[in-house]
Amino acid sequence: MKKFIPFLLLLGTIWCCLAMTENRVAVEVSVETPVWEVLERLGEPSPNHSITFLPPKASVEVGRNIVHFGSTKIKAVKQQSAHFVCTSCHNTEKEFADLRDTDPQKRLEYAAEHNLPFLPGSPLYGVVNRSSFYNGDYEKKYGKLVIPARNDLREAIQLCAVECSQGRALKDWEMESVLAYLWTLELKMEDLAIPVADYHKYTIKSVDAADLITEIKSYYNQDSPAHFVAPPDDREAGYGMQGDPANGEPIYKLSCLHCHEDQRYSFFDLNDGKLSRRLLAKHFPSYSYYSSYQFIRYGAPSHPGKRAYMPQFTSEKMSNQQVEDLRAYLTKK
Ligand code: HEC
Ligand code: HEC
Repeated sequence: MKKFIPFLLLLGTIWCCLAMTENRVAVEVSVETPVWEVLERLGEPSPNHSITFLPPKASVEVGRNIVHFGSTKIKAVKQQSAHFVCTSCHNTEKEFADLRDTDPQKRLEYAAEHNLPFLPGSPLYGVVNRSSFYNGDYEKKYGKLVIPARNDLREAIQLCAVECSQGRALKDWEMESVLAYLWTLELKMEDLAIPVADYHKYTIKSVDAADLITEIKSYYNQDSPAHFVAPPDDREAGYGMQGDPANGEPIYKLSCLHCHEDQRYSFFDLNDGKLSRRLLAKHFPSYSYYSSYQFIRYGAPSHPGKRAYMPQFTSEKMSNQQVEDLRAYLTKK
């Protein structure tokens, strides 16, 4: 028996090695696995906004501070924008239960349920999983500025820092910090409506990897579609549909008040009192400066570097029906 021991040991070692190699290849996919990790393992090239190294001073913490507070919390570094922070216009949470959706009414219901603001910008949650930015009609608004930003997240952030936020450009280490923070908001497998029982398909690189990549990507949008809409021709008649005040209430509270209450991001002060609602209701159908149709659909013109402006809502971010619902809520006695 003794003479078999070395042989058994050898067998044991071989078995161990094999088990380890096996483990290395078939890494488990769980609800918490980042979607990009699964895609890369299947052979998808890393996106150009991957971070390979962080410059000195850069960190996730700095990035979080810029996005939520507009400042790096380092004295002597100027606030990014005097008017806004990124979260004035973008949520950092997901906005749909199913990430294939784009329906503004589902977005509103999800926001109301999760107590999120209802904003003109797309969520920063999952933005590192998207591949195309400032889509659809945003080209009309920003023209040539969109070209470098279309497929480059760093350029998209810079465009927003300067144009949407009316602030200064981010320095290199600030940009990498923002990106590092945005990578903490990447999609995980649990965000996709893929049944957990199907995860095993994605554990090993196989011959049909390309199909699997396409399949995973079909569970979330690669971009945020955007269509500009005009105010109604006849503002008294509006968009010609019956408004529902009960649906208008969350729009007012989660959207308009997010920026206007206590003049948070605007000099125009609004609250949920009668006075504010009456003022808006009175001007809603007018052709005056205070008409909400005008502001919701065209936004306020921006004067570069000078003042806060109101960003417009695309039809994806507020439907015509929802605008009428808002009007009905404000007009309600
Ligand atoms: C005043 C409102 C506003 C502010 C402030 C703002 N953004 Fe934006 N941002 C927008 C709008 C509107 C778009 C248009 C595209 C969209 O989000 O759907 C946009 C687009 C983007 C995009 C491209 C998203 C996409 O899917 O097309 C990124 C990335 C972005 N912003 C990052 C930032 C960052 C980072 C900050 C802070 C430095 C910031 N934004 C501040 C309104 C704003
Ligand atoms: C992302 C922030 C933001 C959101 C959301 C927002 N606004 Fe504004 N709004 C502004 C800013 C900034 C101005 C420009 C006025 C200023 O200088 O502060 C403005 C201007 C206005 C004005 C013109 C008044 C003036 O003095 O310039 C009206 C009316 C208005 N908003 C109504 C609304 C309504 C109604 C909603 C909800 C559908 C809404 N806003 C949502 C930021 C916002």
